[in-house]
Amino acid sequence: MQFIKTKDGSYTVFNQKYQEHYHTISGALEEAFQKHVNAVGVENGFHILDFCFGLGYNSIAATKDHRNLTIIGLENDSEIIEAIKNLSVLDEIEKEFTTFQNIAEKLEITDDNNNTIKLIIGEALVSISSLPKDYFDRVFFDPFSPGKQPEMWSRKVFQKVRNVMKQGAKLSTYSCAKSVRQNMVAVGFKVMDGPIVGRKSPATIAVK
Ligand SMILES: C[S@@+](CC[C@H](N)C(=O)[O-])C[C@H]1O[C@@H](n2cnc3c(N)ncnc32)[C@H](O)[C@@H]1O
Repeated sequence: MQFIKTKDGSYTVFNQKYQEHYHTISGALEEAFQKHVNAVGVENGFHILDFCFGLGYNSIAATKDHRNLTIIGLENDSEIIEAIKNLSVLDEIEKEFTTFQNIAEKLEITDDNNNTIKLIIGEALVSISSLPKDYFDRVFFDPFSPGKQPEMWSRKVFQKVRNVMKQGAKLSTYSCAKSVRQNMVAVGFKVMDGPIVGRKSPATIAVK
């Protein structure tokens, strides 16, 4: 698997099937912090769902300066999980990354601050059915784009994700497509603009 350097110096991958990068080329790590972790805010003890884990940037970024997080990552491609072993990261998350670098072998790792990342490998729409209802404080929603993977942005999917979120919980995603926001609203989310990072349009935050 070939790593591609993004503009903030962090690496991403290009997916051949979807013909799309895993992150914005303006910065993979910047995207994790700005569009997800900082956009919705993370507090110690939170339960976080990383919906489409990939290289794990969003989860690993969330563990920085936090304690007692329970993070569940959903991912169906074991090759991308294996690639985490060979990823080089920026100094900013070097310590956190080193702790979770072998997640492909263990599938569940707890760091010195009692942050746990647990991976469930398989179809996210099936795995999510095994998760408790009203459980997650935050969701990092990160499939390939609505243009490339429309089935992941449907009402049915947002309903499933909403079911596992606590009342008042927040979901972050990079897309602000009108159809995406309409589907979120249709299942009961309140939708607002997220930050503008690396492009002209804002990200999206959905609140249960
Ligand atoms: C845009 S990338 C996510 C990037 C990731 N958050 C990161 O930090 O590297 C989308 C990811 O979703 C995964 N994916 C796509 N469809 C999926 C599905 N139906 N179930 C589980 N994972 C899926 C892909 O394999 C890919 O790793």
